[in-house]
Amino acid sequence: MHFAINACLAPLYSLEGMHIITVEGIGNCRRGLHPVQERLAEAHGSQCGFCTPGFVMSMYALLRSSKQPPTKEQIEDSLAGNLCRCTGYRPIIDAFGVFAKTDDSLYTASPSESANGKAICPSTGKPCLCRNETDVNGNESSLLSSVKTYLPSSYNEIDGNAYNEKELIFPPELQLRKIMPLRLNGFNGVRWYRPLKLDQLLQLKSCYPEAKLIIGNSEVGVETEFKNAQYGVMISVTHVPELHTLKVEEDGLRIGSAVRLAQLQDFLKKVIAERGSLQTSSCQAILRQLKWFAGTQIRNVASVGGNICTASPISDLNPLWMSTGATFQIIDVNNNVRTTVAKDFFLGYRKVDLKDDEVLLSVILPWTRPFEYVKEFKQAHRRQDDIALVNAGMRVHITEAEGNWIVSDVSIVYGGVAAVPLTAGKTESFLVGKKLDYGLLDEAFNLLKEDIPLAENAPGGMVEFRSSLTLSFFFKFFLYVTHEMNTKGLSEGLDVANMSAIQSYTRPVTTGTQGYELVRQGTAVGQPMVHLSAMLQLPNFPLGSLVSSSQKMCPVLTILGQLDSSKKRILGQLSMMGRFLHLMSLLVLARSLESLWQTPMIMQKLLQIK
Ligand SMILES: Cc1cc2nc3c(=O)[nH]c(=O)nc-3n(C[C@H](O)[C@H](O)[C@H](O)COP(=O)(O)OP(=O)(O)OC[C@H]3O[C@@H](n4cnc5c(N)ncnc54)[C@H](O)[C@@H]3O)c2cc1C
Ligand code: FES
Repeated sequence: MHFAINACLAPLYSLEGMHIITVEGIGNCRRGLHPVQERLAEAHGSQCGFCTPGFVMSMYALLRSSKQPPTKEQIEDSLAGNLCRCTGYRPIIDAFGVFAKTDDSLYTASPSESANGKAICPSTGKPCLCRNETDVNGNESSLLSSVKTYLPSSYNEIDGNAYNEKELIFPPELQLRKIMPLRLNGFNGVRWYRPLKLDQLLQLKSCYPEAKLIIGNSEVGVETEFKNAQYGVMISVTHVPELHTLKVEEDGLRIGSAVRLAQLQDFLKKVIAERGSLQTSSCQAILRQLKWFAGTQIRNVASVGGNICTASPISDLNPLWMSTGATFQIIDVNNNVRTTVAKDFFLGYRKVDLKDDEVLLSVILPWTRPFEYVKEFKQAHRRQDDIALVNAGMRVHITEAEGNWIVSDVSIVYGGVAAVPLTAGKTESFLVGKKLDYGLLDEAFNLLKEDIPLAENAPGGMVEFRSSLTLSFFFKFFLYVTHEMNTKGLSEGLDVANMSAIQSYTRPVTTGTQGYELVRQGTAVGQPMVHLSAMLQLPNFPLGSLVSSSQKMCPVLTILGQLDSSKKRILGQLSMMGRFLHLMSLLVLARSLESLWQTPMIMQKLLQIK
């Protein structure tokens, strides 16, 4: 399997023993571009090129991990964690569309002709310019003519092979390598441990109670990079098997704290398929929520325990663990295990019920009972790869009492509204023992406003909107449960107008076309030509930065190996500016201003100026 991950959040030590493939490794202009790189250039999928290596690697990882050609939906899902600020997504998605399982004739068939003699595109079925036409000046003008002139760059200038003859393999020496516990020393006395067993982890924890546990580093990495947090001892628990449990048990699922979210998604899909919907309403809600949790690159490394122990107020999963009645198993350095309900675990802003000598072992997610329904909610500015404005987890159990179907147990928990996920206690008490019908909605809404107060100056702003979300989530939950009961003949039906509210949001595959007329004027103007820097951006993004100097016209003498932290900071700011400079203008500028031309490969190097 190949996993795309965020390089910026992956500590080098965490990659020990792994085969790392970077965008520079899969292809370049001399050795030949990889077909994924080539497609992106050919389809005009890059402008500034800043996002380009990331898109390439996400697509590459998906293709290398898929036994069958991926679907268009899988392709778009795999790109959800990649953001592009200038090209726009249509050309990028179009570029990768050719790798999808689809009808090849859409791409290979010749255009047919409509009644008025216009060419019909085999892909869209609409009139298009897919065929040679001659403009008034007698110049050939067509998309095909430009495609014909395109020279593939997937051959190797050195040995003349095509790229597909040399796809990277997993190195045999790594396959034979025995995984060892690690103890590594880093800068400023930082120590990195990698135990291979739970007892080794507990021993380390008893020696270093304040040691930071690390799994995906998607929280800790942000803290150390952007919030100046410093941890002297770090214990990576990615190789402790006891924290990786994924088991179906009699009372529910046991999920180890180090289980990665992508792993959890696969496991839940399997359990739901095997067990059916009756027992798995909680599993389904968590699976649906995970779809909108970060992007593939984060879910490939981020863990269940990392999300729980961070106790972020906008965690997408914590309101669900709380509402589903999940329990957490905690082990201390003396091997004592205690269990706590998720509802009692979150004590304050990023504060949990976990002592320095304790480690979160696993989560027990109970099966749902007949007539027990669970639903997830999340509203963010952007659907994919964004943090929640408000999220929620809701569960209700309906039972029959003296011929009536009434609420016997209910749990309503909101995230993003306070320092910790908030339980709507008054609303819950009001609902218990009542028949769920439209008549109780007004009172429930009033109580919800009391349960989930959002002060005018609440952090995150948009108070009115977020308050209305808390009510509308509950209304949607009410409609969902009413509809479920109605399908069993136990409740009145919904208005047609409300039916759309019961469906969880699904995004259809993106479609888009761009129409433009091609009129060649001279050799290049009017032609959709691949821009020259695209080929350079695909294997890497050349970053340019400016460095000021006290003298004019100084030549660059040497490249220094290290930067101190103040220079690194300046360099970071400069590279942000440098992104917007075209390489050519940068070289010209370099004549008068001393320049720093930096690529991610030589990020740590500085040009020495006379
Ligand atoms: C780009 C991006 C997008 C994101 N999107 C979302 C999102 O949509 N929704 C959301 O909820 N979050 C999101 N996050 C937050 C983050 O990804 C999650 O919280 C993630 O689950 C953390 O897991 P991790 O393994 O990376 O944690 P790490 O960073 O490795 O650890 C986090 C914390 O948990 C502690 N810890 C980990 N395991 C244990 C254990 N077994 N016992 C005790 N303590 C432990 C660590 O010591 C540390 O304090 C996003 C983050 C990024 C960078
Ligand atoms: S950010 Fe995607 S090409 Fe510029």
